[in-house]
Amino acid sequence: MTDIRNIVVLTGAGVSAESGIDTFRGGGGLWEQHRVEDVATPEAFARDPELVLRFYDMRRAAIQTKEPNAAHHALARLDAEWEGGLLIVTQNVDDLHEQAGAKRVLHMHGEHLNAWCTACDVRSRWTAPLIDRPPCPACGARSLRPDVVWFGEMPYRMDEIYAALREADLFVSIGTSGAVYPAAGFVRDSRELGARTLELNLERSQGSAWFDETRLGPASELVPAWVAEMLDG
Ligand code: OAD
Repeated sequence: MTDIRNIVVLTGAGVSAESGIDTFRGGGGLWEQHRVEDVATPEAFARDPELVLRFYDMRRAAIQTKEPNAAHHALARLDAEWEGGLLIVTQNVDDLHEQAGAKRVLHMHGEHLNAWCTACDVRSRWTAPLIDRPPCPACGARSLRPDVVWFGEMPYRMDEIYAALREADLFVSIGTSGAVYPAAGFVRDSRELGARTLELNLERSQGSAWFDETRLGPASELVPAWVAEMLDG
């Protein structure tokens, strides 16, 4: 792969599945246990903030007990050793890429371990519950919400993502079902911009036909093997 210099990696819930974090879709997925409309929209938060805060408090507590798996470690190795451009765009709101040591990570759907103050617009690192409406560390207002992008809200830092996609020679999608836009559209965008496209997933994603190559299996096996190919030849 000597012709490849700039890489964009998109990760989804499948990358964290083997660390014990539920995926969203499929048997036992989070959206089978909870209705999106009840817990993951601005309307739900306006209607029943306690239900929404309790849901995210549970999730925030749960992810703090999880550890990165071989897929996160392999991507951290790629980040440390790849001399060309690299952006790991994650839809995940856990911090397992960072725990593994990756630096070039962008959280397009926000982060569980941040709270966002809707009064002063400051984001603060947050590991505790929000249900008791604690004051914002910056302004004191009791206006903190999870810093997670809900359905109907705009994902974060799209300009940076599209800038990286324009430069990319290779786009790799890992552990995502391809059900949620705009992330699901990145493969088509990448192809149109001339990049090669590779999918690593347990099963074919909804946009599978758009990839030049698909490798099926668990991320903990596929990702270290692909990273070794890129770095060791
Ligand atoms: P999904 O739950 O939709 O899809 C997870 C994908 O991971 C599926 O295609 C699985 O086949 C695959 N998978 C499961 N276990 C795997 C493993 N061990 N190795 C490799 N692949 C595996 O999760 P996402 O695509 O990440 O958004 O969902 C996208 C967005 O929908 C999330 O960011 C979230 C959700 O609603 C928001 O909350 C805004």
